[in-house]
Amino acid sequence: MTSTQLTTPSTGKYTQPTGLFINNEWVQGVDGKTFETINPSTEDVICSVAEATEKDVDIAVAAARKAFDGPWRKVTPEDRGKYLTNLANLIEKNIDLLAAVECLDNGKALGMAKGDVGAAAGCLRYYGGWADKIEGKVIDTNPDTFSYTRQEPIGVCGQIIPWNFPMLMWAWKIGPAVATGNTVVLKTAEQTPLSALVAASLIKEAGFPPGVINIISGFGKVAGAAISSHMDVDKVAFTGSTVVGRQVMKAAAGSNLKKVTLELGGKSPNIVFNDADIENAISWVNFGIFFNHGQCCCAGSRVYVQSGIYDKFVERFKARAIANKVGDPFAADTFQGPQVSQLQYDRIMGYIAEGKKAGAKIETGGERHGDKGYFIQPTIFSNVTEDMKIMQEEIFGPVCSIAKFETEEEIIKTGNNTTYGLASAIHTANLNTAIRVSNALRAGTVWVNQYNMLHHQIPFGGFKESGIGRELGEAALANYTQTKSVSIRLGDALFG
Ligand code: NAI
Ligand code: MG
Repeated sequence: MTSTQLTTPSTGKYTQPTGLFINNEWVQGVDGKTFETINPSTEDVICSVAEATEKDVDIAVAAARKAFDGPWRKVTPEDRGKYLTNLANLIEKNIDLLAAVECLDNGKALGMAKGDVGAAAGCLRYYGGWADKIEGKVIDTNPDTFSYTRQEPIGVCGQIIPWNFPMLMWAWKIGPAVATGNTVVLKTAEQTPLSALVAASLIKEAGFPPGVINIISGFGKVAGAAISSHMDVDKVAFTGSTVVGRQVMKAAAGSNLKKVTLELGGKSPNIVFNDADIENAISWVNFGIFFNHGQCCCAGSRVYVQSGIYDKFVERFKARAIANKVGDPFAADTFQGPQVSQLQYDRIMGYIAEGKKAGAKIETGGERHGDKGYFIQPTIFSNVTEDMKIMQEEIFGPVCSIAKFETEEEIIKTGNNTTYGLASAIHTANLNTAIRVSNALRAGTVWVNQYNMLHHQIPFGGFKESGIGRELGEAALANYTQTKSVSIRLGDALFG
């Protein structure tokens, strides 16, 4: 069995692929292993999917290698672009189903899931446009030599993605890799395998030859580790926790020194100055931390408010957070669904307990929501100091820490007081403040008077321990190409 019949509340019955997608075919794992995926809203099992072991990773890598060395090399850049565009169109055509599956397996609100699927299609289409614009340079060193560079694909790319944006991460990884002529073996997160498998069922129809895009489900310690330590994987791209990012890098170093790009965690400062439009700032701060239930690597989890508006801000922000509708992700007005798993629920509740113990003040939330599913109330801690764990560690849940600041000089220092450097934001009406502070913040992204506004045309990635390399935009092409220099002698031999 490589598929099963399932039902979603919004789209009804559909066929859910459950196999491993290798060589444009659905197969069982060699050992026949499977694992269950859970609906986080109900804690019920949705279905079981095939689990890839090391042996299956070997088979998928061999398929990707064969495609890279053979048919994929012969496909023109224009056709690579066409296949990506076809895939984008097919994903858009299936947006309702893909969003419903995402909602079921991950727990994100249906409207947000639709946004993710639309953005995934947009990302694939964008990289489809790049496929025939990968260009080298002619470099003139002297009249006797003709030299040029080629931007060549790296080869077989292992890609390991997390559960917080299953469809979007799928597209962010596949788009630039395939546009530049690589082949991929992508492993989804064990909490959310389903939408990626539905999307995989569109790959063949989009026109991709067998072995170019292989999608497997499985666990990090088994299939993930097999990818990052594989001797025939040329590059690994990982998104997830900093702890595992280090392991992936070690595995690359300990095997074939495959190229590594990492998108890791964050503890991003969201800074509100006295002169900000307070209602706008509150909306963005609310969205910055509570969007996707706080399960965002770039979540604005450290909120710093200048003293002149601090009390007013906290009061109104609290009212705004209480108004966020928490509940069934399939209900039209839901903003926040459940956390993805029991483990994440427990981790977050652990941090909330930690914050209370350390003496931070709970303004709102701090408890479970309802009696079934991994729901947590939107939680705001005030009076948080820099030494508290809730101000330093990534919580990855609907938990926000607020502190007061006085001066610009002070907040630049405090804003940078983290081992992370993924994102940040400034809310101010003063253009000079916005530019001065954004230049001073050590983070890969700075939003001004907004938050979480990612776009596939704009590079995204981390300073410091938040990662290596950039995804999205033209910048991501550098992760998937290597420069070859060709130098041709035109004149006579130099020596003799
Ligand atoms: P994780 O880092 O364990 O999982 C992410 C991906 O890595 C999954 O596909 C997993 O199967 C894989 N993986 C796990 N161990 C591996 C290994 N040894 N080798 C290769 N691949 C491996 O993250 P987890 O446990 O799901 O979440 C823990 C924390 O990580 C969260 O609370 C959050 O702080 C952070 N996180 C950050 C994300 C981001 O977008 N930057 C996404 C998910 C989690
Ligand atoms: Mg699930």
